[in-house]
Amino acid sequence: MVKVTVCGAAGGIGQPLSLLLKLNANISELSLFDVVNVPGVGADLGHICSDSKTESFLPSSKEDKSALASSLKGSDLVIIPAGVPRKPGMTRDDLFNINASIVRDLAQGIAENCPDAFVLIISNPVNSTVPIVAETLKKNKVFNPKKLFGVTTLDIVRSNTFISQVFSGESKPTDFDTIVVGGHSGETIVPLYSLGKSADLYSKLSEDDKAKLIHRVQFGGDEVVQAKNGAGSATLSMAYAGYKLAESILKAFNEPNVVECTFLNLDDSIKGAAEAKKLVGGLDFFSLPVVLSKDGIAEVKYDVLTKANADEQKLLEVAKEQLAKNIEKGVKFITN
Ligand code: LMR
Repeated sequence: MVKVTVCGAAGGIGQPLSLLLKLNANISELSLFDVVNVPGVGADLGHICSDSKTESFLPSSKEDKSALASSLKGSDLVIIPAGVPRKPGMTRDDLFNINASIVRDLAQGIAENCPDAFVLIISNPVNSTVPIVAETLKKNKVFNPKKLFGVTTLDIVRSNTFISQVFSGESKPTDFDTIVVGGHSGETIVPLYSLGKSADLYSKLSEDDKAKLIHRVQFGGDEVVQAKNGAGSATLSMAYAGYKLAESILKAFNEPNVVECTFLNLDDSIKGAAEAKKLVGGLDFFSLPVVLSKDGIAEVKYDVLTKANADEQKLLEVAKEQLAKNIEKGVKFITN
């Protein structure tokens, strides 16, 4: 029996994400929370003949906390895509003022109603909202760093797609499993194409083409924001990415050696996190490949940081500098 709750289920990401979750046979209960339109989404999804039960929860007023509490009670995994998306010309950080308090309030609900749940954060700016959730859970004395995940999976998805487009005659997206480290915003996104399955093809590119490919991954979100022209940012590909991470987490309940990249808290309690923290200049959060288990993150695969080539090391330096500010902003939002 696995209960999954989506906070922001009626939004652009929440709806396709909920559809994908509804189709997952490992989920027995799908709980949908939102502040608008969620009864319709719940009724619609509820007609699908998969075996999971669907319930929707809509607060009756701004003060009503009971709908969130009921949606979260008993949840094993909570995914948060709630909040507002970017418009052309905005950075993810420009969303901070609106999304920070939305995410904080949802984290408070998690602390009160399902403190043991896995928590996956999609709401931007992820580099700051994940620290906000960590600090909120700490304040409530229920923080488990092994169960908090910033969703950076879309950066991996894009990295695989974009390199396959460069080598279109010779490869397909599923040939790759690119490691992407750092954070989830512009230059904090560092694809390590020199490692793993992409290494051979990547080494054939000119320096200029390598730079163009990396830039496309780092600013891939902007392509969608511009194409949607004021109607938001990536929803379908983000739903796919969030689902992929959730699916892997559920798979790791029964299978060993499931690995995903995620933006995590480099807490000493996680194997390899102390070593990772030293390599990233003491940052408390960083996206890295992790080994998953039924208890959460079992191990951080920090060795990718030492294996990255000289050009990637330079990108990492830039990422670290920006991340330090993003993380501090999130932490201070709660601690001040
Ligand atoms: C993305 O990477 O597409 C999302 O984080 C949404 C955005 O604002 O770019």
